[in-house]
Amino acid sequence: MCGIVAYIGHREACPIILKGLHRLEYRGYDSAGVALLNGSLEVYKKKGKVAELEAFLQDKDTQAQIGMGHTRWATHGEPNDSNAHPHYSTSERIAIIHNGIIENYAALKEHLQQQGHTFHSDTDTEVFVNLIEEIQKQQKCSLEEAVRLALHEVVGAYAIVVLSRDEPNQLIAARKGSPLVIGVGKDEYFLASDATPIIEYTNEVIYVNDYEIAVIKNGNLEIRSKEDVQQTPYIQKLEMALESIEKGGYEHFMLKEIFEQPRSILDSMRGRLELEAGHLNMGGIRAYERKFMNADRIIIVACGTSWHAGLVAEYLLEDLARIPVEVEYASEFRYRNPIITERDIVIAISQSGETADTLAAIELAKSKGATIFGICNVVGSSIARATDAGAYTHAGPEIGVASTKAFTAQVTVLTLLAMIVGHKRGALSDTRLRELMVELTNIPAKVEKALLLNDEIKVIAEMFKDVPNFLYLGRGYNFPVALEGALKLKEISYIHAEGYPAAEMKHGPIALIDENMPVVVIATKDSSYEKVVSNIQEVKARKGRIIAVVTEGDTVIPAMAEFVIEVPHTSEVLVPLVSVVPLQLLSYHIAVLRGCNVDQPRNLAKSVTVE
Ligand code: F6R
Repeated sequence: MCGIVAYIGHREACPIILKGLHRLEYRGYDSAGVALLNGSLEVYKKKGKVAELEAFLQDKDTQAQIGMGHTRWATHGEPNDSNAHPHYSTSERIAIIHNGIIENYAALKEHLQQQGHTFHSDTDTEVFVNLIEEIQKQQKCSLEEAVRLALHEVVGAYAIVVLSRDEPNQLIAARKGSPLVIGVGKDEYFLASDATPIIEYTNEVIYVNDYEIAVIKNGNLEIRSKEDVQQTPYIQKLEMALESIEKGGYEHFMLKEIFEQPRSILDSMRGRLELEAGHLNMGGIRAYERKFMNADRIIIVACGTSWHAGLVAEYLLEDLARIPVEVEYASEFRYRNPIITERDIVIAISQSGETADTLAAIELAKSKGATIFGICNVVGSSIARATDAGAYTHAGPEIGVASTKAFTAQVTVLTLLAMIVGHKRGALSDTRLRELMVELTNIPAKVEKALLLNDEIKVIAEMFKDVPNFLYLGRGYNFPVALEGALKLKEISYIHAEGYPAAEMKHGPIALIDENMPVVVIATKDSSYEKVVSNIQEVKARKGRIIAVVTEGDTVIPAMAEFVIEVPHTSEVLVPLVSVVPLQLLSYHIAVLRGCNVDQPRNLAKSVTVE
């Protein structure tokens, strides 16, 4: 969380930085700031969104060709002007922006206070910049050397950029655990937490590795290790279109991303499933085919929506490939003493590829000898690089904080994986494989059809926009969909919502049901349909207000439910790809009607790089 951006070159830095901060605002939006180096080193910062910083800068002299900016998601200290980044050192000669957490900041701060440093914020970052200043003073060394030595003393995670008034043609950056990308232009460099602030200027990027320090000085870039050994930067070509990170006529990114799903699902299958050629393959597993064939168990680690995709995969892999699966919250897994063997495969799922808990779970599993397979959306992300093999979801940039198209792309990739592995292990016959290939190819059109429900769902949203609670129920493949529907609603509308396995409801949540409780039941025609119908009866008997997601043509449930949303029929194993769509739309419309900021819900950030 927190977005950082910096520029050094021949253009005006401030507009580039502000535009970049807008692009990175999904990473945090409680305060923002810039530092500009032009003879003097000026820092401007403001509580609130980037737009508030922009307004604040209107009457300031922002001319400079070197600068950096930050948009914050608070970890240490409440969101206010003084806790906003950049932070000055005590002498105001050095400034820093930081994404991450310094765990030993309290001890460092005490020591620095004894040396006479003064602090104006509650942040760990201000400690970092004062540490650099103190080292430079003590060692009488260059800024670069002081940064390098400071990195040896801090414990935690960081992506930082440092500017100094005394070294005016220089910008220093470093990373450990938090993302940092350098865009390489002609006599200019762009630095950012991800590539979105960079793509309109250059498509040549370097993903900085952990423990590397980048020094850009007098137009040259040099990357060195923490041990001061020069590294050869690997310049990659960015494949990202500018339109993919703009709203394209939609009111919100979230709505655009919901509507992009027919396309993003197709993109996640592209080159992997070609029906006419009878072709089904996934480059990422080729080298690990034997491992998958012989795996005793698959452990899935993920957080949030990605964890829900992992739950769908549990059904898929057990059904289609007959491999036992355990789905773990990465944050719990990493602090247990899990039993992992070399015959286990760990699948890590992450949209951003930067989630700190998922990354730590990977490192733990690696240390125990498991093979790690990553499913990420962001190309070149930390998780993509930390895994042994993997598959990108190719959903395109997801900017709305609430994950939508990333979920369906993850489920699509996991479905392909289960089909390939199931077929190879002999658990899935040729005929069944072919049937699933045909049906998966039909999914984008079925999602397109489900999107036609938009207006109908808006009407339902009107009816329920003011309720305080929601319950979501589903069974089998639709149980994770119920969890996902509830998560979507609570995160963007701030309505309390719970997802439950429909039958489990009677062991507790049924006590909540009365004539005021909306209950969304995902009740598509599948093997648990009859059972779900009974669960709907149970809700109805207690006067719950039923909103049912059913398969087109259902004649039973419409007689029982207050509202019915009909989605196209598909194979049971593929149903989450279709049944989740109306739930995404329902949460979107309820949030909009409640006046919530759907793309940037309070307290959340898209990329959770702190544990
Ligand atoms: C929910 C949401 C979060 C993320 C979670 C994991 O809409 O976006 O719950 O799913 O923070 O993020 P990734 O997938 O980037 O690891």
